[in-house]
Parts: sequence; structure tokens; C-alpha cells
Amino acid sequence: MIFHQFFEADSSTYTYLLASEQTREAVLIDPVISEVEQYAAFLEQHDLQLVYSLDTHVHADHITAANELRTRFGCKTVLHRNSGVVCGDIFITDGSAIRVGELLIEARYTPGHTNACTSYVVNGMVFTGDALLIDGCGRTDFQEGNPATLYDSIHLQIFSLPDDTLVYPGHDYKGRVSSTVGQEKRNNSRLGQGRTKAEFITLMQNLKLPYPKHIDVALPANKVCGK
Ligand SMILES: [Fe+2]
Repeated sequence: MIFHQFFEADSSTYTYLLASEQTREAVLIDPVISEVEQYAAFLEQHDLQLVYSLDTHVHADHITAANELRTRFGCKTVLHRNSGVVCGDIFITDGSAIRVGELLIEARYTPGHTNACTSYVVNGMVFTGDALLIDGCGRTDFQEGNPATLYDSIHLQIFSLPDDTLVYPGHDYKGRVSSTVGQEKRNNSRLGQGRTKAEFITLMQNLKLPYPKHIDVALPANKVCGK
């Protein structure tokens, strides 16, 4: 498998490229519109064909490159059917599988940050979007957020994976690139050490976070695939 992690500094977003060494087919998870030239250069350099662009959810902090990539590379845009994004090509649900050469990517529905959040599992790695972050989790105070739902999603769909599963989040604001399920079960400051659902809900309801700075631009744009 070919793997690459891209970083977009303005919104501290991680984008992931996964590709088959055999068929040279590639997918991008959570591509950002400003970074399309970087993705194009990487694809060309490694002789890869982009077949899917996957979004883990409808982002509030950056604009997806889904439409731009579809126009440029003819790839299909993939997101959860609860997203309300009608311009997508493929709408997935819990348990959907996406095949890319020898890679089988499993979609796990992990709502709670938004109601379209999906984590993708492949080859001992989980791409958690904004459901589970390193030493944190997505906020639950806008876009259908619900702390009880997020708690269940993380426990049932992510913490149930083997402890050595690598966790690749949608963002990190401190330069960390990955974690593991075991490490987050132990050390995550919001969910680790067996924190109860009631404790988690109280914590999430009292974060008093600022209004997201790009939400008024990013959300409407992402509802039309970033056009
Ligand atoms: Fe988000």
C-alpha cells in the first residue's frame, strides 16, 4: 500500500492518500481545496490514478476539494448518506466497503460531531475524521453535534478495534501525526481511563468553545461539494 499524509496549515487539517501498488488506483480522505496542486503532483510523481475522494463529514472549518478533484481527475466523491450533500456520487452507510485494488476500506458510522461522520478502516489503520482526535474529540456544539452519540460512536466503532490500530485524525493542532486505539483508550483526556458517558457529556457541555471561524463560508460550500 502507498500511504501519504498531507497537512493544510490554516485549518490544521490532515488529508490522507491511500493507493494500491498493484493497480496504481488511489483515494484521498478529506482533501482540502487549496491543496489540489500538491495532490496532483503526488499522483503524477507516483503514477497514480485518483478513483475516489472520501469526506469523513461535512466540514465546517475548510472547503473540500471533492468537486475540484472530480472535475480534474474524474474520480467519484464519496460521503455518508446522512450528509444531505446531494452532489455526491456515492452515498455510504455503516459497513459499506470501498475497494481500491487490493485495499478494502470499511466505513464505520461514527456520528456525534455531525450526523454524517464516518471513520474509515483499512490495514490496521483507522481514519477518524473529527470523531476521535489525538487526546481529544470533535466538538459537539454545532452541526447536529451530540455528546452522548459521540461517546457511543467512539466506544462501539473505534475503541472496539485492536489496541494497536493506528489512529489518523482529521486534525491535529499540536503537530502530532498519529496515535493508537490503545493509547487513546488509556490517555485521551476526554474519553480515556474509562470515563463514563455522563462525565463525558458534562465535560462536552462545558467547553465554552469560540464560534468556528470559517463555518459561515465552509458549510454552504461543502454542501455543494466545495464548488
Ligand atoms: Fe468537523
